[in-house]
Amino acid sequence: MAPVAVRMKGISKHFGGVKALDNVDLEVLAGEVHALLGGNGAGKSTILKVLNGVHVPSAGTIEVAGVPLTTHSPAASRAAGIAMNYQEMSLIPTLTVAQNVFLTREAKSGGLIDDTEAERRAAELFAMLEVEIDPRAIVGDLGAGQKQLTEIVKAISQDARVLVLDEPSTALAVSDVDRLFTFLRKLKTQGVAIIYVSHRMDEIARIADRATILRDGQNVTTADIADLPVDVMIEHIVGKRSLGLADVARNVAVQGDVALELRNVSGRNKPKDISLKVHKGEVVGLAGLLGSGRTSLAKLIAGIEPITAGEIRINDRPVHIRRPSDAIAAGVALVPEARATQGIIPSQSVADNATLAVLDKLSKFGFVDAAKMRATTDAQIERLSIKTASRDHAVSTLSGGNQQKVVIGKWLASDPDVFVLDEPTAGIDIGSKSEIIQMVRDLAASGKAILMISSELSELLTACDRIIVMAEGRSHADIPHANLEDPADVNTNAAHRVQVAEQRLQIAIQNALKSEQEISNDLH
Ligand SMILES: Nc1ncnc2c1ncn2[C@@H]1O[C@H](COP(=O)(O)OP(=O)(O)OP(=O)(O)O)[C@@H](O)[C@H]1O
Ligand SMILES: [Mg+2]
Repeated sequence: MAPVAVRMKGISKHFGGVKALDNVDLEVLAGEVHALLGGNGAGKSTILKVLNGVHVPSAGTIEVAGVPLTTHSPAASRAAGIAMNYQEMSLIPTLTVAQNVFLTREAKSGGLIDDTEAERRAAELFAMLEVEIDPRAIVGDLGAGQKQLTEIVKAISQDARVLVLDEPSTALAVSDVDRLFTFLRKLKTQGVAIIYVSHRMDEIARIADRATILRDGQNVTTADIADLPVDVMIEHIVGKRSLGLADVARNVAVQGDVALELRNVSGRNKPKDISLKVHKGEVVGLAGLLGSGRTSLAKLIAGIEPITAGEIRINDRPVHIRRPSDAIAAGVALVPEARATQGIIPSQSVADNATLAVLDKLSKFGFVDAAKMRATTDAQIERLSIKTASRDHAVSTLSGGNQQKVVIGKWLASDPDVFVLDEPTAGIDIGSKSEIIQMVRDLAASGKAILMISSELSELLTACDRIIVMAEGRSHADIPHANLEDPADVNTNAAHRVQVAEQRLQIAIQNALKSEQEISNDLH
């Protein structure tokens, strides 16, 4: 058997009265990908932060490659060969990609490495991953997926013995996940131990050798992936039978008038010349790869990025959306992809955040009605099963997935006519995912118009009535659900129908890319 790279024994961690970890063991071998699984708030990020020296454990011991790790600090963990990419992103937006990658590290000759050297080495790493990111780009200008890849390259660049990836794929497109996996397999052959956290079960099946499952801060099991069929895995994670996507009731909403219309709308760079309609009672999906312009489109509608041409109409009236407050006034809410920077104020309480978008409705003569505020918050905590010690705790103390739920709750409370959801289930655990998708269906059934972005095709297919395929900022196809999945097709079972539908959608995305390539070839 391969040598043990990490041995954590009896780890406990309390935050005040909250017991995040209770006597947890985690053992990871050199050269394996070890999946760390569990629902939102199970303790995954906490135990990894203990390993990485960010948190001091309340009890327990850590060994790295047989050597006890007795000092609990990021520097001591780094010296022991541990590199970690954080779920909540540790990049500094005002620096370049290369500066971020080599931040806090010194060149062999002593002294900090200079920018040209950093750019050269970052370019090498990106080339190895086969991703196109300019090392000189300012991180703040990157999309979430590119930030994620930069964060991963930063962790990889440290020549680590143990590489910890906490939900690295949340903002990655399928093709980027493939590249990441290829790269992780290379690292494995070099004997690097990899700890991998993800809520996407398909990824775990593809990349992991073994898995440790946590629930409510305790060990449930550690086993070979081969001995963990997906349904067993999910049951261990959730602790009960949970809804799957197949259980979501795709109630047929009665379509009303057009609620949101875009006429030839363009942004500074992307999107380009988009026309689309979303009716009341309808869920329209946006499919496409990273950089296809989906998020930019969402930001235009929400007033975060300026529109440079075209017209946005709400309820058949033109609206001028120049800033987020214009969008809110027009009845549009965006659940953004970058929740930490756009969705919430981490240092403020769950209640403050959950009611942020409805403060005026909860106020009288400038005073906030505290009882109403509590009731609104509690309703969202209940509706979305948000795991928090209390509504008065700072959002920053919630797990990643629960923070995401607070963002969703904030906009639910504001009761807009039009929802724009950018990767609404990113970071949400497998037990709650279908609940969120069901909620999207129910919102539509109650007459809301919904535009939804997701990189998980199965999710788009379950949620949407129509799917628009984007590439290079342009809309290439507008496909009704029935053309992808035919419910009248009684000859095949449901799972197979979804699989076929996913393939069709995948092909539509590839075709969109191909025709974009042809356009650019014609130009050159
Ligand atoms: N700084 C903190 N103060 C108080 N409680 C905390 C703090 N950090 C984490 N917790 C709590 O510890 C528990 C475990 O959180 P953790 O972030 O480890 O979950 P997770 O398994 O990573 O979940 P997710 O999948 O949502 O990221 C949660 O109940 C969380 O609220
Ligand atoms: Mg986490």
